[in-house]
Amino acid sequence: MLDSVEMSSADLSLQGWQKKDLLDTDVLTRDEIMLIMQNADVMAGVRSRRERKVATLRGRTIVTLFYEQSTRTRASFEVAGKALGADVVNITASGSSVGKGESLVDTVRTLEAIGADALVLRHHRSGAACLAARHTAAGVINGGDGTHAHPTQALLDLFTMRRRFGDIAGRKIVIVGDVLHSRVARSNLWSLVALGAQVVLCGPATLLPRTIGGGDFEEGRCEVTTDFDAAIQGADVVMALRMQKERQERGLIPSLREYINGYQVTTRRLERAAPDALVMHPGPMNEGVEIAPDVAHGLRSVIEEQVANGVAVRMAILYLLVAGRYS
Ligand code: CP
Repeated sequence: MLDSVEMSSADLSLQGWQKKDLLDTDVLTRDEIMLIMQNADVMAGVRSRRERKVATLRGRTIVTLFYEQSTRTRASFEVAGKALGADVVNITASGSSVGKGESLVDTVRTLEAIGADALVLRHHRSGAACLAARHTAAGVINGGDGTHAHPTQALLDLFTMRRRFGDIAGRKIVIVGDVLHSRVARSNLWSLVALGAQVVLCGPATLLPRTIGGGDFEEGRCEVTTDFDAAIQGADVVMALRMQKERQERGLIPSLREYINGYQVTTRRLERAAPDALVMHPGPMNEGVEIAPDVAHGLRSVIEEQVANGVAVRMAILYLLVAGRYS
């Protein structure tokens, strides 16, 4: 155990990290993204050992505060915090004083008073994590807020691509589905473009943004299209987004059948992609809607790798935010 603590401490780096919070990827520099990737590589090494824990954050407290359902984000932050030796407290809105009407700001201040060093917040309202971060000295990690951002998902997606391809500069990444309502697509766009990838956002016109704003990237690095069969040509990564049935109920797509015909990721469509193309999905999946079951579980799929990598990436982020406070 002691050996692994010393090894990981030697390889980890806080060099250049100055952020209190992680609210989205659009505020990260290329160097900061690379620092997260470098630390995540070390953490993946820790996770591959027989003793899969270190004591880097022993004595620190991490609170997960979830106002919306989650399996992957919540569980992997809990595993990540414990793998770093921190105390992890899990709170869901339904089982807390939020149910008695306590505001987000009061809840966050209460958790800081209890001793939280970092709060991982999942909320149905866009901007909730930014609001929380303004009212606490604890580090706030956005675990997904409304349709705004999901930075840790984007960073684990990037980590998964880099593990397979190395440098992703010049790679063609197609993100297909309900881009308009997707916090995952938004956060992925910023980090992928920052590292030089070519991003294509694809879906029915009613589920695509009219403009791509807010980012700071070269002209031509992001394309928006409704033609999936053209977009998938030569793609290095095809990332399917979850199609929520309520989109049909709200009249944003004519029917699920038409959506499937135009945008489902199928074996046949993948024949047009690059021979070593990866299939990704942030989960949870609607198999048979946005992705065919044989593709979801096929040889090109790295969907389970994404989930596994989520632990190492979240360990790296917790390390930077929490150890960074005491350095
Ligand atoms: N991808 C993702 O955020 O999954 P969960 O909702 O299960 O956390």
